[in-house]
Amino acid sequence: MTTHSTPLPGGTWTLGDSVVTRFGYGAMQLAGPWVMGPPADPEGARSVLRNAVGLGITHIDTSDAYGPRVTNELIRKALHPYPESLFIATKVGATRDAQGGWPTARRPADIRKQVHENLESLGVETLDLVNMRMGDAQGPGPGSITEAFETLADLQQQGLIRHLGVSNVTAEQVAEARRVTSIVCVQNMYNLAHRHDDDLVDRLAADGIAYVPFFPLGGFTPLQSEALSKVASRLQATPMSVALAWLLHRSPNILLIPGTSSTVHLRENLAGAGLTLPEEDLAELDSIGH
Ligand SMILES: NC(=O)c1ccc[n+]([C@@H]2O[C@H](COP(=O)([O-])OP(=O)(O)OC[C@H]3O[C@@H](n4cnc5c(N)ncnc54)[C@H](OP(=O)(O)O)[C@@H]3O)[C@@H](O)[C@H]2O)c1
Repeated sequence: MTTHSTPLPGGTWTLGDSVVTRFGYGAMQLAGPWVMGPPADPEGARSVLRNAVGLGITHIDTSDAYGPRVTNELIRKALHPYPESLFIATKVGATRDAQGGWPTARRPADIRKQVHENLESLGVETLDLVNMRMGDAQGPGPGSITEAFETLADLQQQGLIRHLGVSNVTAEQVAEARRVTSIVCVQNMYNLAHRHDDDLVDRLAADGIAYVPFFPLGGFTPLQSEALSKVASRLQATPMSVALAWLLHRSPNILLIPGTSSTVHLRENLAGAGLTLPEEDLAELDSIGH
């Protein structure tokens, strides 16, 4: 596979022992509708993945719960044997039910099972990164992460995982996880319009920990805002490009994992994320989330 050599927007970030492009790719949208079952066009989905890597992206975010199993198998079929530079982050903590729900599965036995399922479906002996996902579809909730995270730390000690992170968590759960062992990232919902984690982003940046916003473009209902449309039209850019450029500008520890099932959107997002945002536009964009 030929890869692109021009630096991607935002440059790189070091996650543990690996350097990744800050512009990554979130693979969830490659599964079927509502992240259940296979996509209508599996070859098209594999082609998006090959294009992502071909364009120079070295960070892909996934989960065996997507499909379930569908997204990981698309990644393996499209990209295995993986290029040395590719870093694949996955997550555990939820499974799927027949209705497409995301029941939590966080007992030690559940976590061990999910780690082994990810190893198998991705076709690797060691996972680059596993995020412990807490909360539910409504977002983070109360509850201790310690037992679940100790299980992951044990699997890491066994050599099955290189790096650990946490997802869909409160600031207290981040602190609790860090008392168990070190983490390289936090993956929470965050975008121009959803900024509950503003303080957390800054605190993690000071500690050299990455913040990986999920739903960077708004998720299943992409971001829509008058201010965003106005800024985009002034800059002759797409609203999605402005939303991604704003995240890259927001803090150096932010890593992007925008999702798309379209190579056209992938290229458009990659081309647009390097946009420079003048001060007046930043001020207008700031008003969206406040
Ligand atoms: N930890 C967690 O609990 C959690 C939860 C949710 C997601 N995630 C991760 O976060 C990643 C990103 O989330 P996401 O993919 O759901 O949401 P997202 O990146 O915010 O948005 C994806 C949506 O935006 C659309 N889109 C992308 N580029 C576009 C463009 N240029 N123009 C118009 N529409 C565009 C996509 O449609 P098209 O397919 O048509 O481009 C898709 O519907 C996921 O892939 C997953 O890895 C994690």
